[in-house]
Amino acid sequence: MSNESLINNGSFWFPGLAEESVRGVDFLFWGVFWVSVAMFIGIMGVVVYFNVKFRRTPQNEKAVGHVTHNNVLEAVWIVIPLILVIILFVWGFVDYMKFSIPPANAYEVKVIGKKWFWQFEYPNGTSSVNDLVVPEKTPILLNMTSEDVLHSFFLPNFRRKKDMIPNRYTSIWFNSDRTGNFQIFCAEYCGDQHSVMLGSLKVVTKAEFEVWLKNANSGSDLPPEKLGEKLYQSKACFTCHSLDGSPKPGSTWKGLYGAKIPLASGQTVTVDDNYLRDAIVVPAKEVRQRFPAIMPSYQGLLNEKEIAGIIAFIKTIK
Ligand code: CUA
Repeated sequence: MSNESLINNGSFWFPGLAEESVRGVDFLFWGVFWVSVAMFIGIMGVVVYFNVKFRRTPQNEKAVGHVTHNNVLEAVWIVIPLILVIILFVWGFVDYMKFSIPPANAYEVKVIGKKWFWQFEYPNGTSSVNDLVVPEKTPILLNMTSEDVLHSFFLPNFRRKKDMIPNRYTSIWFNSDRTGNFQIFCAEYCGDQHSVMLGSLKVVTKAEFEVWLKNANSGSDLPPEKLGEKLYQSKACFTCHSLDGSPKPGSTWKGLYGAKIPLASGQTVTVDDNYLRDAIVVPAKEVRQRFPAIMPSYQGLLNEKEIAGIIAFIKTIK
């Protein structure tokens, strides 16, 4: 089923569901919703009724003001809400356990949140940025952490969302019924590029996944500057670096190569191959003046050929 049809399957309240076994979450939402509607109407109805019935009149001004209690009434307003919240608790708890305990055979992918992209690490050493590729009909366990601030990994089509916390691991798991592309959002405000911290979950067949896993990080045949241009997109450099001089959190790449730039330390350096290599791999070493020191390290995310490709691409942007 294509992604288009999935989106059409959704409603005003929910995006299309890609994992039928967790539809209970939607039912629970409606359960809580209708209980709330019923309580609202009931309580507001009594408020309005009493306002009319006991409004100030010459008669009731003379009424005795002291009423002690009514055992039946008090028992009713304690027991009925108690039963309701117990039902909602048990109902929610059963689904919560299903969401929390991954099957023992789940395929594990590590997820690292950084300002402002997602890094995915596969068991065979393959890594990707912003594109999470997984096989269909397979339980997938995401073992997540953050390198800087709080992020939140949100998969609306799977009803999953969990915070990613620095210095701690959190996890979610899911199992897609079908192939397709699904949106990944960051659902925790994490700085000024939070709104572009988007990812794509690509669910493919098991055979396609094996092929992708083998070839994802293999050397590209592109010439270096073309490879760099491709990586500018696929490794999410565009989040912080413009190509046309427009302001973003990081230096624009326009005219960057060969420029003399002041550093936070007060020194001035000329941007050459070595400066760019350090800026990618050990960004904290030489931070540009008046720019926040927020560039995450791409150590391990780019091989030498890819780093050279990005430098070659920067050279072309005059
Ligand atoms: Cu990461 Cu918002």
